Amino acid sequence: MNFTEELQRRRTFGIISHPDAGKTTLTEKLLLFGGAIQIAGAVKSNKIKRSATSDFMEIERQRGISVATSVMAFEYRGLKINILDTPGHQDFAEDTYRTLTAVDSVIVVIDVAKGVETQTEKLVEVCRMRQTPVIVFINKLDREGKDPFDLLDEVEQKLHLKVRPLSWPIGMGQHFKGVYSMYEQKLVLFRPHGKQEQDEDVVEITNLADRALEQHIGERDARILREEVEMIESVYAPFSRTAYLEGQLSPVFFGSAVNNFGVRELLDCFVDIAPSPLPRAAEERIVAPEEAKFSGFVFKIHANMDPNHRDRIAFLRVCSGKFERNVSYLHVRQNRKLKFANPTSFMADKKTVVDEAFPGDVVGLYDSGNFKIGDALTEGEMLHFKGIPSFSPEQFRYVNNADPLKAKQLAKGLEQLMDEGVAQMFTREVDGRKIVGTVGALQFDVLQYRLEHEYGASVQYEPVNLYKACWVTCPNEQVLREFMQRRRRDLAHDKEGNLVFLAESAWQLKTVQENFPEVEFYFTSEY
Ligand code: G4P
Repeated sequence: MNFTEELQRRRTFGIISHPDAGKTTLTEKLLLFGGAIQIAGAVKSNKIKRSATSDFMEIERQRGISVATSVMAFEYRGLKINILDTPGHQDFAEDTYRTLTAVDSVIVVIDVAKGVETQTEKLVEVCRMRQTPVIVFINKLDREGKDPFDLLDEVEQKLHLKVRPLSWPIGMGQHFKGVYSMYEQKLVLFRPHGKQEQDEDVVEITNLADRALEQHIGERDARILREEVEMIESVYAPFSRTAYLEGQLSPVFFGSAVNNFGVRELLDCFVDIAPSPLPRAAEERIVAPEEAKFSGFVFKIHANMDPNHRDRIAFLRVCSGKFERNVSYLHVRQNRKLKFANPTSFMADKKTVVDEAFPGDVVGLYDSGNFKIGDALTEGEMLHFKGIPSFSPEQFRYVNNADPLKAKQLAKGLEQLMDEGVAQMFTREVDGRKIVGTVGALQFDVLQYRLEHEYGASVQYEPVNLYKACWVTCPNEQVLREFMQRRRRDLAHDKEGNLVFLAESAWQLKTVQENFPEVEFYFTSEY
C-alpha cells in the first residue's frame, strides 16, 4: 500500500460521554466487530468509581488502564480505525480536551434515560470550537427513557448541534423492537441477549409502505414508525455529508451497546462518512497530512507506573508524512535531534513496537523527561502546533515544601508533573510563592500522591482565596506597565514566564477589566 492509500484509510476518533452512559461498552463492541479483541470484558473501564475519589490505589490502577487503552486500533472494511480513549472522570476533563485535539471526529454517547448531561455539554463545546464532526449515539434503548423527539430537541438545545436522525427506534424498554435505519433502509430487529449478527434479524425495507413491516413489528408499531419517519423527513433537513464534515450537522443513531444492538449500523455509517486525517494548524502554517515530510505533536504524557522505571510515555499524533523507527527527528522546542528505538502502539493489554506510522496514527514514545504537552517533532522545520491550550484553572492552593531535605526532588517532581499536564503552576510576583491551579479537585490528591511515590518529595497545601487565573497581554506598553504596577499584588507568571492575573472574585475581575480596557484577559493559554 502506498502512502496516500495508507493515509486515506485512517479514521481517528474519540468517544465522549458523561460517565456511565456506555462509552466503555460501546468501545468494546466496536473492537469486537473489528476483531481487535475476541471476548467481552477485555476493555477495562477507565473510570474511577465515585466512591473511590480518595483511594489512591484506584488512581494508580486507573493510570495503568488508561495507558493500555490510550489508543485502540482495529481494522474494519479495509480501514484502519484508531479510537483515542478519554478519561471518564470529570476532574480529568482537561486530559479529554487535549485528546480531542488529536482526533478528526467524535462519537458522543448519550443515555436515553438521562439525556444530555453536564460533562457532555462541556466536551461537545470543545468539539464545536474546533468544528469537529460529531455523530450522536443514543444508548440503552432496552431501558425506558425519554421520548426520542424530546431527546433530539435536548441535543439541539443543550449541545447546540443541528441533528439528523439516521436510525429510529421502534418502542423502548420492555417494548423495544429494534431500529429502522434510514441510512441503509433496513429494519434491524432486537432480540434481547442475542447477538445482532444473524442475518434474519436484519430485513431490507426500502419502502416503508411495504406490508412486510407489519409482519415483523405488528400493526401498531408499523403505523407509529411510518408516522414518525414521515415527521422526521418533514422536520429535519436531509443528511448532508458536507455539513457533517464541517461540524454543522450531526447524524443520530439509536441502540443498545451492551446488547451489541445498533452498533454495526453506527460503525458502517461512521466508516462511510467520517473524515480521514485532517490538516492541523501550526502557528507558521497549515500542515496537510499529504505532505511528504513527517511532523507530529505530543498531546498526552503518561508516567510509567513501575517505580523502577521512571520514564514516561509521550503520545504523539502523526500530522503529516511517515514516522519511522530509529530515524532522527527534530524536537522543535529543544532544537535538537532525537530518535526512537521503541515507538509503541497500545492495544487493550498488548503493546507492540511499530516500525512506521502514518498521519492519524498515535505512537507512544518512551521519554526520560524531554517532552511536554504540545511539543512538536518534525524533519527539520520549526513548527508549533496550535490548539493544545491549558484552560484557566478554578481551584488553587499554595504549595509548600514539607521536607527541607527534599527541595530538589520537589522542584523536579513539580516540573515534570506540570509538563504532563496534571496541574498548572504559577509563581506570584510579590513574594515568589508557588500556587498550583487545577480544573478539578482530585488533581491535588493525585499531585501529592505522585510527588511522594515517584519523587520522594512531600508537599503541603495551604488554602488561597482565588477565583480564576487568566493570561494577560496589552499592546500598549505604557498601559501594561501601569497595570503591572497597580495590580502587582495580583500578578504571577506561569511556567513559560507568561503574565497571569490572579483574580480573587468575579467582581474584582470585572472591575479590573473595566479599569483597564486596553488589557486583554484570556481564559485559555492560547491567545
Ligand atoms: P462509561 O464508560 O460511559 O462510564 O459507561 P460503561 O460502558 O462502563 O457503562 C455503564 C453501565 O451501563 C454499565 O453497567 C454497562 O453495562 C451499562 N450499559 C451500557 N450499555 C448499556 C445498554 O445498552 N443497556 C443497558 N441496560 N445498560 C448498558 P454497570 O452495572 O455499571 O457495569 P457492569 O457491571 O454491567 O459492567
